[in-house]
Amino acid sequence: MNIPFNKPWISGKEFDYIRQAAKNGHLSGNGPFTQKCQTFFMERYGLQGCFLTTSCTDALEMAAMLINIKPGDEVIIPSFTFVSTALAFARQGAIIRFVDSGAGKPGIGEDIIEDLINENTRAIIPVHYAGVSCDMDKIMNLAEKYNIYVIEDTAHGIESLYKGKHLGSIGHFGCFSFHEAKNIHCGEGGMLAVNERHYIDRAEKIWEKGTNRAQFFRGEASYYEWKDTGSSFLPSEIIAAFLYSQLEDIDVIQKRRLNLWHQYNSGFKKFHCEKYIKLPVIPEYATINGNSFYLICRDRSVRDGLISHLKKYGVMLLSHYLPLHKSEYYSKKHDGRILARSEKYSETIVRFPIYFELKEEQVDDIVNKTHSFLCNY
Ligand SMILES: Cc1ncc(COP(=O)(O)O)c(C=O)c1O
Repeated sequence: MNIPFNKPWISGKEFDYIRQAAKNGHLSGNGPFTQKCQTFFMERYGLQGCFLTTSCTDALEMAAMLINIKPGDEVIIPSFTFVSTALAFARQGAIIRFVDSGAGKPGIGEDIIEDLINENTRAIIPVHYAGVSCDMDKIMNLAEKYNIYVIEDTAHGIESLYKGKHLGSIGHFGCFSFHEAKNIHCGEGGMLAVNERHYIDRAEKIWEKGTNRAQFFRGEASYYEWKDTGSSFLPSEIIAAFLYSQLEDIDVIQKRRLNLWHQYNSGFKKFHCEKYIKLPVIPEYATINGNSFYLICRDRSVRDGLISHLKKYGVMLLSHYLPLHKSEYYSKKHDGRILARSEKYSETIVRFPIYFELKEEQVDDIVNKTHSFLCNY
């Protein structure tokens, strides 16, 4: 067996669309394919506005600029997440107040957020870990009560729902990733969803190097100039063309990934290995997207042993994040609170291969090999 952790899927149609983009004679950003991708999400998710970016990191940075994060502002972020969730705000000078994971789930502990809110708090950044929604009502209620922003890190959350609503469309902003490890990809890519209309004009300038160039190209201004802060956040049409092809296949891709996710879930359930592993818990309010299948092991030695065992058969399992409050970059700035659950998930989560071309027989085999390892533990 040689089963990588991820294998980015390409239908082949991507290349036709890239050729088409070249024929269009518009290869820089914000051309016809960018518009098609953005319209796709506006219609499908009911967004007020959206902007393709070159990564989710970029989308988070755009959001930090849009809400004018400045030195001394505080931003509440789970410790168990990727660096970018915090970096986008830390680079603007924000103090990061890390929150622990919830009881029984790696995602943010919604019930412990309020203790961290004070007069300097500007935003909460919930991360929908593995595409499983956070409890957005609890988070939005806090945001309303204290007049703070919610920026959803939806890097894993494309097509997932919270009480029927698309993730990324609920907070003030949503930040998506189209990195090759995600359900829908273009190598590296992302998107900022803007959920209140009055931010759109400024978001467009921040997106286009702080200029009103987009307005100029629409014929709404006779010249363009430096208007605001920003950066070059927009991807080229080559990338947007690739992405649009993937979007046309979104339902097929989703169906496949969800089937594989459920196959793992029912396979592990059948074996009753509760002594060593726990299955992911999907709250009633959440509809998942097959982004990632993980187990929570009893302890680090079970997890690392399992990874080594499957590696012998050519199957690549992975652990996940190192807690950000203990990172080399931020640990000295962290306020010293112990975030035991975040540390526990860092030591015990194991993620399984899940990608379009993975076969049912291979999933069965992985489940059986995991079972036999645990039986002999
Ligand atoms: C939760 C989370 N947020 C943000 C990112 C950054 O995404 P990108 O690589 O598109 O910048 C990642 C990367 O996987 C992630 O896991």
